[in-house]
Amino acid sequence: MLLQDILAAKRDGQALSSEAIRQFVMAIADDSAGQEQIGAFAMATYLNGMTLDETVALTEATRDSGSVLDYRQLDLPGPILDKHSTGGVGDPVSLILGPWLAACGAHVPMISGRGLGHTGGTLDKLEAIAGYDVTPRRTTFERLLKDVGVAIVGQSGDLAPADKRLYAVRDVTATVASLPLIVASILGKKLAENLDALVMDVKIGNGAFMANDDETRTLAATIADVARRAGTPTTAVLSDMNQTLAESAGNAIEVRECLAIMRGEQRDSRLLTLTRRLAVEALLAGRLATSKEDAERQLEARLASGDVAERFERMVAGLGGPTDLLENAGALPAPAPVIQDVLAEHPGRVARQDVKALGMAVVELGGGRRRAGDAIDHRVGLDAIAAIGQTVDRHTPLARIHAASQADADRLAARVREAFTFGDEGTPPPLVHETLCDPSITGETP
Ligand code: URA
Repeated sequence: MLLQDILAAKRDGQALSSEAIRQFVMAIADDSAGQEQIGAFAMATYLNGMTLDETVALTEATRDSGSVLDYRQLDLPGPILDKHSTGGVGDPVSLILGPWLAACGAHVPMISGRGLGHTGGTLDKLEAIAGYDVTPRRTTFERLLKDVGVAIVGQSGDLAPADKRLYAVRDVTATVASLPLIVASILGKKLAENLDALVMDVKIGNGAFMANDDETRTLAATIADVARRAGTPTTAVLSDMNQTLAESAGNAIEVRECLAIMRGEQRDSRLLTLTRRLAVEALLAGRLATSKEDAERQLEARLASGDVAERFERMVAGLGGPTDLLENAGALPAPAPVIQDVLAEHPGRVARQDVKALGMAVVELGGGRRRAGDAIDHRVGLDAIAAIGQTVDRHTPLARIHAASQADADRLAARVREAFTFGDEGTPPPLVHETLCDPSITGETP
């Protein structure tokens, strides 16, 4: 079939066969499709959508457009599990979850991304640690996966290459916000990890990738359905992004908060609670626990024993970082030169956070990128971010700005202040809005 015949069918609103979709995706991957044809495909799909069958075919073809990880030679004793998030602000779950699952017997080949728009990226956070290499050799990645149980790294060029090209075209043709294209893009990359089970953390709320909650629910349901049909049992957790998850937002600052949790110094936080909830789902999906209670018991024991912190330290050392991260304060950059409270104009109770605005404030401080390729200042960001329901006054800040200069701190202070709304009404949002379990995990018939 000619590529233009596939395009004509999609343009006219027809459902494409799996073979036609696979042919088009392979043409994207091997560069035989032109940029204009990829653009036409993205726009026709954006305008006419895809059926579930087409979305599954697009996902599978994206996954198969490059190499799919193969662990047979490694003879791993435990299941291969991972978690992926649609992106949040102050959301460093992966840093704790990866070693936590490894400590419970899983193997976690966590291929992560960089910050996108107002959201932070796992790789940017890890690169705050001196020496951490997100593009290790294949043998290093495999050794860590076997011996430590976890390796958090970047995407190699041969993993789902069709997505890389298609995403770049979507980015400049106003076709990013298409459900089938988003689902195939996210899952095509994740399923190339060849997992036994996946937990998808789909963020919902004003700081989420999709600002509309109904669209976010549809995204979560479609991801769970498509992943299951593509052969990877997947639980989708709709977790709250109406406020930052961690108390901090910014690369090195979030790493410090994660280290405090892994060391057992911070026992009560939304970040820890959500990480535990996601870990429970992963252990159940990977058949490492027989019940939620069993999963929680294992997780508590591993965290209390220090195993999680130790595995994180070993992973960091294996990827070029210091061997003594837990004791070595110098492994992270020195704090930013200006650290300044942002106080509310009047005492009051926080009723709402504009999470996107807080994320953009971190980007503006230099903690994220305005353009691809921008350098990042790992020191900057926010901490002590007031949660919804918290009372602030002259002594309790809305947040603390960590800035590279006084001018930056002054410029961003008003922006941060305006991101908070006050009021006595309303209860804080739930941490988890809904969990969509795969029937094969719960034992139900689909
Ligand atoms: N993240 C991705 O990887 N792809 C999308 O299309 C959207 C978010």
